[in-house]
Amino acid sequence: MEIKVFESKKELGKGAAKYFIDLVNQKSDAVLGLATGSSPENTYLELINAYKENKVSFANVKTYNLDEYVGLDTNHPQSYYTFMQENLFKHIDIKQENINLPSGIGDTQLNCQLYNDKLAQTEIDMQLLGIGSNGHIAFNEPGTAFDSITHCIELQKNTVADNARFFDNDLTKVPTHALTMGLSNIMQAKQIVLIAYGKNKAQAIYEMVKGPITEALPASILQNHPNVVVLLDEEAAALLND
Ligand code: F6R
Repeated sequence: MEIKVFESKKELGKGAAKYFIDLVNQKSDAVLGLATGSSPENTYLELINAYKENKVSFANVKTYNLDEYVGLDTNHPQSYYTFMQENLFKHIDIKQENINLPSGIGDTQLNCQLYNDKLAQTEIDMQLLGIGSNGHIAFNEPGTAFDSITHCIELQKNTVADNARFFDNDLTKVPTHALTMGLSNIMQAKQIVLIAYGKNKAQAIYEMVKGPITEALPASILQNHPNVVVLLDEEAAALLND
């Protein structure tokens, strides 16, 4: 695992975006794995800026997102589909048919299977990840099997609490379940770029980098991946030097 520490969230976003811009400029039909949440927002802003400055084109890129809430359709303001449209897709030249997210509506088991079938037929060149304060990646909560594929998961209480800020801070509005790529899907990406900022991520980052490889801390599986870069701000990196 390569670790890089940045002075600010903005610099971190620029640093992460550079990996994706360089890849797409080398391979115009790259397949990108994307994440939602606060962590990638600056990265997406930098990708949008680079596109507007004609430094990159996403016209031939395909994307696969990590997860979606069960029960939220594409029109819901807090669905991950909407998040991606608002924070990235509608601002760049990606083709809508090249965008892939699991569907939160309908038969959940079938939706998991359909998404997993799509993933099985592709190879993700670069996967962007955030990390939960409990060490989850995508919505693979602690205890998820390392060999898991796309599945439906019940979100843990702390994840629901962490995400309440997107739902008027009302815990009752936060969906309780999500469809998520499994850990085995994530590990198949050729390269992984994980970003984290803020002190509430410091313990999870410490355990991911220095702790045992255990299903109790899902992100620790990344120690087994040959090509992971971890981009942090100083607060998220704070425990690594102890
Ligand atoms: C989002 C996702 C989650 C988030 C994680 C951190 O697609 O898969 O694992 O990356 O919950 O969320 P933020 O970035 O909001 O702190």
